Amino acid sequence: METAQPHAGVYIEDVSKSFGPEGARTLVLNHVSLSIKMGEFVSVIGPSGCGKSTLLKTVAGLIEADSGTVKVDGMTVKAATKNKMIGLVPQSPALLPWRTVLDNVRLPMTVNPKANANRNLRDPREILESFGLGAALDKYPGQLSGGMQQRVAIARAFVFDPSVLLMDEPFSALDEMNRDAQRLGLLDFWQSNRKAVMFVTHSVPEAIMLSDRIVVMGAHPGHIAEIIDVPLPRPRTIDVYATDEFRDLEGRVRETLREVMGQKSA
Ligand SMILES: Nc1ncnc2c1ncn2[C@@H]1O[C@H](COP(=O)(O)OP(=O)(O)OP(=O)(O)O)[C@@H](O)[C@H]1O
Ligand SMILES: [Mg+2]
Repeated sequence: METAQPHAGVYIEDVSKSFGPEGARTLVLNHVSLSIKMGEFVSVIGPSGCGKSTLLKTVAGLIEADSGTVKVDGMTVKAATKNKMIGLVPQSPALLPWRTVLDNVRLPMTVNPKANANRNLRDPREILESFGLGAALDKYPGQLSGGMQQRVAIARAFVFDPSVLLMDEPFSALDEMNRDAQRLGLLDFWQSNRKAVMFVTHSVPEAIMLSDRIVVMGAHPGHIAEIIDVPLPRPRTIDVYATDEFRDLEGRVRETLREVMGQKSA
C-alpha cells in the first residue's frame, strides 16, 4: 500500500478535460486544481454546465481527465476505487426497487466478497440506524419518501468506510424543509465519521451550512473562480442561518456567482 501521507484526502492538480469529436472538442475543465484535506467538507457551486459533475466524476473514476493529476489518499483514482476508498452519492438515489432497504445497503458488500475480506466494513444495520432508518430496514424503496431514499443512498456510500465521500446534488429533489433535515442529518453523521467530502450543490445556503470551504466555479471553460472559507463554528444548527456571519457569507458567495455569470456573458 502507498502511504496516505503526502496527499491525504482529495488532490486535484492542473486537471483539464474536453468532450466531443476530434476537431470539435469543447473544453469543459480548464487547468483545475483543488485539494480537500482529510476531514474537510468542501462544496462546489457554480452555474449549470460549468463542469461541477465532470470534476466530481474525474475524482470518482467515472471520467478520465485529459491531463493533470487526481489522487485520493495519495493513490491513483484507479487504485482508490479498487480499494473502495471512494463513496459516491449520485444525484438520484439509484436504489434497486426489488430489494429491501437493508439489502440495498448490503449489496456493495456482497459483490466480490473475496476482495472485501480485508476491508474495514461497516455494519449496514448500524449505519442505517444512525441515519434514522432503523424502522425501514425491511421496507422497499417504493415505500419510502424521497428524503428517506436519499438517506439510504448516503448510508450505502458509508458501507466501506471510504476516506472520501463525493456527493452530486444529493438533496436537490427535496423540498426545503426536508433538505434542512437531511443537511443536519448528514452533518451529524459526518461529525463523528470525518471524511474528505466533495459536495456539489446549486444552493448557496446549503453550501454555507455544510462546508469548511466553498469552491465557486465559472463556465466556458469550467474553472475555479474563487475559494471562500466558511469559518462558522461546528457543530452547526439551523440557528446559524439567522446569524450576521451567515448573511455576510451568503452575500459574498452570491456576489462571486454574479461576477462569474457576468464574465460568462461578457
Ligand atoms: N459525457 C459527456 N459528453 C459530452 N459533453 C459532456 C459530457 N458530460 C458533460 N458534458 C458537457 O460538459 C459541460 C459540463 O457538464 P457538467 O455535467 O459537468 O456540468 P455541471 O456543472 O454539473 O452542470 P449542472 O449544474 O447542470 O449539473 C456541459 O456543457 C455538458 O454538456
Ligand atoms: Mg451536474
